[in-house]
Amino acid sequence: MTRRAASGPEAKWNPGLYSTNARFVSDLGQPVVDLLAPQRGERILDLGCGDGVLTRKLADLGCDIVGVDSSAEMIAAARSLGLDARVMDARALVFDAEFDAVFSNAAFHWMKDPDRVIAGVRRALKPGGRFVGECGGLGNVRTFVQALETALARRSIDPSTVNPWHFASADEHRARLEAHGFDVMSVELFERPTPLPGDVAGWLETFAQSFVAPLPAAERPGFLADVAASVRSSLRNADGVYIADYVRLRFAARRRGQEDDHGRGPRDDVTRRVAGPARLIRTAPEG
Ligand code: BEZ
Repeated sequence: MTRRAASGPEAKWNPGLYSTNARFVSDLGQPVVDLLAPQRGERILDLGCGDGVLTRKLADLGCDIVGVDSSAEMIAAARSLGLDARVMDARALVFDAEFDAVFSNAAFHWMKDPDRVIAGVRRALKPGGRFVGECGGLGNVRTFVQALETALARRSIDPSTVNPWHFASADEHRARLEAHGFDVMSVELFERPTPLPGDVAGWLETFAQSFVAPLPAAERPGFLADVAASVRSSLRNADGVYIADYVRLRFAARRRGQEDDHGRGPRDDVTRRVAGPARLIRTAPEG
């Protein structure tokens, strides 16, 4: 019989662990900052800002930046850098046509219900505003994902109920952005083999908590040790460095304004899916 994971509270982020095992996430964020091409004085929303290290860089470039993240622990770390950072569910963004750009690095693939998230991004942007980001794309960290899923299945847990990530293809992401009223300037999917700062166990401890959560506490260390052992030989290079098989989805899109929207706005079927049958968000095209 296959056990389904009971849904529980979301895993807590540990900013200290993150800083040790995942500093490369913000260190490798420069190309997406370059794609954003932030201008001094622009008001920018950093969606899934995490511990705020990259957000701080944007602030230091003279942007008026707000960071949001669902993790209170990460937001506390971001605030300690002097940032305007707020705990917020990406599915329920509260902003209305106030940002020149929405930026997101290494966060979008964690966000449940991408249609609701993109609808909120669109609302947050001024007409013509940019949505520029990078996240995991189709095939991302496949070696870890397969090992985690195999180890869970061996313990009779259905992995589909615990995998927190959605790694979209370029076509899927483009279609989703267009359906929500964006003109897509670029979407690319590319491999970015990523050296880890230490053993694979550090990566698993930092990022794979959702896969561990359904297990009894006593089984968790053994589970992670099994998964780590099963990926080491595939990921270790000749110098003994572990190289994770990251695949990035990098994109830049622009919110259509009234004048170039041709009266369309977000596609109606998407609006219905976003709103659900009982709650009509909008009845006429908007700018
Ligand atoms: C990523 O940035 O692609 C990623 C980070 C942690 C877990 C999975 C994917």
